[in-house]
Amino acid sequence: MAVQISPSILAADFSRLAEEAAAVSGADWLHVDVMDNHFVPNLTLGVPVVESLSRATDTPLDLHLMIEDPDRWAPRYVEAGAASVTFHAEAAGAPVRLAREIRAQGARAAMALKPATPIEPYEDLLPELDMLLVMTVEPGFGGQAFLDIMLPKIRRTRELIAKHGLEMWLQVDGGVSADTIERCAEAGADVFVAGSAVYGAQDPAEAVRRLRAQAQQ
Ligand code: DX5
Ligand code: ZN
Repeated sequence: MAVQISPSILAADFSRLAEEAAAVSGADWLHVDVMDNHFVPNLTLGVPVVESLSRATDTPLDLHLMIEDPDRWAPRYVEAGAASVTFHAEAAGAPVRLAREIRAQGARAAMALKPATPIEPYEDLLPELDMLLVMTVEPGFGGQAFLDIMLPKIRRTRELIAKHGLEMWLQVDGGVSADTIERCAEAGADVFVAGSAVYGAQDPAEAVRRLRAQAQQ
C-alpha cells in the first residue's frame, strides 16, 4: 500500500490559498472541505473557489463534500477541476449512480462515513468506489481530537476491501497527526488527511514529509 498525504486547506489561510497550496507541493493531494451549514453546522467554500484553486495549483484536488444533495453537486465539482470527489453515505440519494457519474466524468469517486455510520451495509457498493473515507472525528470542524474508537472500523473496512480483491484506497480524516497516524496506518489506512497537523506546523512541507515517513513505518 502506497502512503498518500492530503493536507486539508481548512486549516490554511483562506486569503492566500494559492500560496498555501504551494507550501505543501510535496503532498499527493490537496484536501478541500466543502460544508453547507446543513449537512454539518459550518460553512466553507463552493464551486467558484474550487475553480480558482484548481487553476492555481498542480496538486490534484481531493474534494470532501459535507453537503446535502451531493447527487446534484458532486458533478459540478468535477467540472470545477476536482480529481477526486468524496460524498457522504448519509447524504447521497443514489450512491451507486452518483459514483458511476463521477467516474464517467473522469474523476475518482469516493464515499465517506460519519463516525456513527457502519461500513457493513455498504459492502456491496465497494466495487463502485475508488476510495472509502472513514471519518475519525465528527465532520464539521478542524482541530478536533482523533476518535480512537474508529480504529476497528478502519480495520474492518480494510478486511472487506481485501475480501473483495479491490484496489481501492482507504482514507482517514480528522485528528490525524504525528501522535495518531501510525495507529491509522497499522489499522489499514493508506490516504491520510491532515489539517492542523500540517498548516499548524512551522514548516508545512516538513510536516508532510514527517507524516509520510511515520505512516510508512
Ligand atoms: C473535518 C474535515 C477535516 C478537517 C481535518 O470535518 O473533514 O478535513 O480539515 O482537520 P484536522 O486534521 O485538524 O482534524
Ligand atoms: Zn475533510
